[in-house]
Amino acid sequence: MKKFVVAAMCAAVVGPVWAAPDWSKVPATKIPVFYPGQSSLEWVLTKKDHSASNQIEVKKRACIKCHDTDATEIGDKIAAGKPVGNLRQPLDGVVPKGKVGSIPVSVQAAHDGKKVYLRFEWDAPKSGGDKKMDAKNNMKLTVMFDENKVEFADRGGCWATCHEDLRGMPDANDAAKTHEKSKALGWGEGATKYIKESRTGLVLSGKPRGGWDKLKSDAEIEAALKEGKFMDLIQFNSGKGAKAVDGYVLDARHMGGGGSLVKAVGKKSGKHWTVVFERTLAAGGKGDHTIEPGKLYNLGFAIHDDYADGRFHHVSLGYTLGLDNAEASFNAVKQ
Ligand code: HEC
Repeated sequence: MKKFVVAAMCAAVVGPVWAAPDWSKVPATKIPVFYPGQSSLEWVLTKKDHSASNQIEVKKRACIKCHDTDATEIGDKIAAGKPVGNLRQPLDGVVPKGKVGSIPVSVQAAHDGKKVYLRFEWDAPKSGGDKKMDAKNNMKLTVMFDENKVEFADRGGCWATCHEDLRGMPDANDAAKTHEKSKALGWGEGATKYIKESRTGLVLSGKPRGGWDKLKSDAEIEAALKEGKFMDLIQFNSGKGAKAVDGYVLDARHMGGGGSLVKAVGKKSGKHWTVVFERTLAAGGKGDHTIEPGKLYNLGFAIHDDYADGRFHHVSLGYTLGLDNAEASFNAVKQ
C-alpha cells in the first residue's frame, strides 16, 4: 500500500508520462525532399516555364496534386542539370558536385495538449565532396508553416517565400546589400525570403521578376504580423552547440524573435539523422502562430545536407499539419 502511494506521488512530481511522445505509437509519413534548383514562385507561376501555372494560380491546385509521385524524379533531373519545365531548360547551371536529387524523410507529429512535437528521420546521402558552403553546419533542418493566410502557402508550402530575385537566384540584385533596410532585414548577402503580402507588387513575367524592393510600409508590415500573415520558421543547426532558431518570414527571413520553440534536438548515428522539435502550441513571441485544434496549417520543410547553404538545399512540397485531424498530411495525435 505504502509503495503505491510513493509511486503516485512520484508521478505527480515528475509530471505526466506523456512529457515526451512515445514515437513507436506514431505513424510515420515518408516525404521526399528534392533538389529544386532555381524553381522560384515566379517560375512555377509563369506559363512559359511551367505549363501548370494557371492550375496553381486560378484553380488553386497544390503541387502535391500533380507531383505526389514524381517529386524524386524532378529532383533527379534538376540535380543532373537536365532540361525541365515547359521550356526544356536546366533549372540550375551550377549544381554542386555529387548533389543527390532527393532524400526520403520520415515525418511524425504528436501533441500533448500544450506542446506539439515534430520528428524527422532520414539517412544522410554520401557527401558530394564539393566545398563546404556553410562550414559550421553539416546539416540544417528548417520547417516553415502558416495558418492559411499566406497566398500560395496552401499550394506550395515554402514556395510562397521563394522568389526569382532572392540571393543566389537568377534575378538577384546586389542593390539589396546596400538598401536602407539592408541591416534591419539581414540583407548583407542579398535579399532573403519574403511573402507576397509584404510587397506592393510581384512581377511574374518579364525581367527582373519578383518584388524584393517593393516593400510595404513599416506600419503595413506590422499589421500583417498582427493578422498572422507570415510563415513561422523553426530550424535545427547541427553546428557547434547545436542551435535552435525560432524566427519567421514576412518582409524578410528573420532568424529570431520567436518564443515558442522549446527545443530542437538532432542526433546522427552513423548516417542516420533524427531531429525532434518541441514547440508550445501557444504563440510565444514575434512571428509565432498559435496551433489550435480544428485548423490546418500549411507546412513545408527543407534540409541543408552536406554543409549546403542558401538555395542549395532539398525542399519538400507543401503539406498540412493538424491536431487530431485525419485530414492533415501530418496529423499530430494527442498522447
Ligand atoms: C496541374 C498539375 C501541376 C501542378 C499543380 C504543379 N505542377 Fe509542376 N509540373 C507539371 C507538369 C505537367 C510539369 C512538366 C513540365 C511542364 O509542362 O511545365 C511540371 C514540371 C515541374 C518542374 C520541372 C520538372 C520537370 O520534370 O519538368 C518543377 C520544378 C515543378 N513542376 C514544380 C512545381 C511546384 C513547386 C508546384 C507547386 C507550387 C507545381 N509544380 C505544381 C504539373 C503541375
